[in-house]
Amino acid sequence: MSELETLAEQIRRCTLCPLHKGRTQAVPGEGPEDAEIVFIGEAPGFHEDRQGRPFVGASGQFLDELLQHIGLDRAKVYITNVIKCRPPGNRDPLPEEIAACRPYLDRQLEIIRPKMVVTLGRFSMARYFPNARISQIHGKPKKIGGVLYYPMYHPAAALHQPSLRRTVEEDMKRIPELLARMDQIEEQEEKPVEQAEQLSLF
Ligand code: URA
Repeated sequence: MSELETLAEQIRRCTLCPLHKGRTQAVPGEGPEDAEIVFIGEAPGFHEDRQGRPFVGASGQFLDELLQHIGLDRAKVYITNVIKCRPPGNRDPLPEEIAACRPYLDRQLEIIRPKMVVTLGRFSMARYFPNARISQIHGKPKKIGGVLYYPMYHPAAALHQPSLRRTVEEDMKRIPELLARMDQIEEQEEKPVEQAEQLSLF
């Protein structure tokens, strides 16, 4: 079994936060271990909880369309969420749920070592762009430690607010070009979030 699949098994059995009590099944994420791009959403919804796969409901259909438009095969990218179990009634994830699930997301990224991490929505954005506002930073990449972090609106935001649809499409369209010229993009001065947090412990 691959390292990523072993981790997925661990996630499926996880009882670290109360969300495990209400889930049909956990949704670890899916995609190849050598994916160049990782997309991080918020949390599984109704359909994801039933199927055990990320982004298979209405937002997922839109995400699939967006990927198709830029010629990206869904099977070639890794798709996951900040939290791996569905919150009741699809409410926002709580800080303690995000904290409990965080080591799983961190480990997934350590195993995959993608070139680009695309955050979908506020909750995954907050992980890499603390205190930022999505309306101000969407579509603006930040390179840290050789990885390009790229914040986007959540596809569901565009489904609920049609005026955002073009913005989401335009931001998505830039991904191939950004990936192609990654080497020319300058590193940000600041430390990666993980390192910065570790340093602040001392
Ligand atoms: N919304 C998300 O953020 N993630 C999913 O997997 C599905 C919908």
